[in-house]
Amino acid sequence: MGLRKDFLWGGATAANQLEGAYNEGNRGLANVDLIPVGEDRKDVVLGKRKMFEFDDEHFYPAKGAIDFYHRYKEDIALFAEMGFTTYRMSIAWSRIFPVGDEETPNEEGLKFYEDVFKECRKYNIEPLVTITHFDCPMGLVEKYGSWRSRKLVSFYERLCNVIFNRYKGLVKYWLTFNEINVILHAPFMGGGLYIGDDENPEQSKYQAIHHELVASAIATKIAHEVDPENKVGCMLAAGVYYPLTCKPEDVFEAHEKNRESYFFIDVQSRGYYPNYALKKFEREGINIIKEDGDDELLRKYTVDFVSFSYYQTRCATVDKSELTDGNIFASAKNPYLKSSEWGWQIDGLGLRTTLNTLYERYQKPLFIVENGLGAVDIPDENGYVEDDYRIDYMREHIKHMIDAVDLDGVDLLGYTMWGPIDLVSAGTGEMKKRYGFIYVDRDNYGNGTLKRSRKKSFYWYKKVIASNGQDLD
Ligand code: BG6
Repeated sequence: MGLRKDFLWGGATAANQLEGAYNEGNRGLANVDLIPVGEDRKDVVLGKRKMFEFDDEHFYPAKGAIDFYHRYKEDIALFAEMGFTTYRMSIAWSRIFPVGDEETPNEEGLKFYEDVFKECRKYNIEPLVTITHFDCPMGLVEKYGSWRSRKLVSFYERLCNVIFNRYKGLVKYWLTFNEINVILHAPFMGGGLYIGDDENPEQSKYQAIHHELVASAIATKIAHEVDPENKVGCMLAAGVYYPLTCKPEDVFEAHEKNRESYFFIDVQSRGYYPNYALKKFEREGINIIKEDGDDELLRKYTVDFVSFSYYQTRCATVDKSELTDGNIFASAKNPYLKSSEWGWQIDGLGLRTTLNTLYERYQKPLFIVENGLGAVDIPDENGYVEDDYRIDYMREHIKHMIDAVDLDGVDLLGYTMWGPIDLVSAGTGEMKKRYGFIYVDRDNYGNGTLKRSRKKSFYWYKKVIASNGQDLD
């Protein structure tokens, strides 16, 4: 009983949320660099406000982030001290191809990640690498309109060829696109899409999505050709929708909301566009332009495993007055659940439901690659935080995760919680929304020493890993 012996335990981060050094090592700019903190952030994230260059009025937190670029050795040593057996991180595309359409990669960028992977290996930490975590070089955004152009497929293919060959033997686990479904709700952050007034947003988004899905299949193909040991996963922003009431209309609404997300994984894992999506496109006049051979690529090169992030469940209803869009997904408030300080509803059992739903639907190994609590931490003078609220959240979720394995028979490869070290929030751009076991002295506007210190949860997670999830006290 219990989790598999080789269960992978660790934490997850994304390049733009922790590296900083946005203009070092010949790195080019990416969409994610140009999203400021503050009240204008949302419109930029949603692709409604065009921000293709920095201005003096805004603060852009990704520029410096938590300076992992210069401090990765210290940070990975702390992960190793907790006993991590895996570390999920992402590659910044614009470190490897600064503009995006170059023929030759940037050696400094390649070398940086090689050093990071070697540092992980030194501690027997298995790197789990997201090829794109929301980022797209600005060169590709400006010249081609990002993923709405077919050309992006070949630039991404070039990136994959380079990194799979260069990191052969160092990296085995790959994720093609972080939270691939987020592009639907946050097109600029999720896929570099700025949506002009003259276009049909759904048409542009689904065309871009088709290109990403094809690119993901090609990545899977190349990964297996370069090294049969490679394992490639898709990555979904998950968390099931419940019907707000048992009114049949609410039940069907929840079904439709869930399908909006499963659509991506249906294609990446089953290998074809599901009928409900084809019917929707027909009804809404969405015309996806495909190239010959696309359907075959999708069918032949499906993923090896299904990974997902899980923070919360949501409620669906046809009663629009109940809906709030506190987060990028509009949903109704569940009266049975408590919320985090940012209004995310906390639902440990929902993780078990989500695991079961995905496993029954895809019958492939699953990997939880994000889960955690964003909270305000108050450190003492040494940077120590008594973060029992974080421990409680994680204990509850890990318990239900183990039940899904033990009681339901879900095949689960590992668990990487989100943000083992405090980093910039993707949603709000704040540093104040902290997830880490390691406190970082930095505020929303870049002030602070960047000093790292261990929180109470650091020692708790270390015990959890050492006992393979048996000791959760
Ligand atoms: C996921 C993303 O949406 O959730 C991460 O993959 C993100 O990039 C995480 O940071 C937590 O969200 P937030 O908005 O609290 O940072």
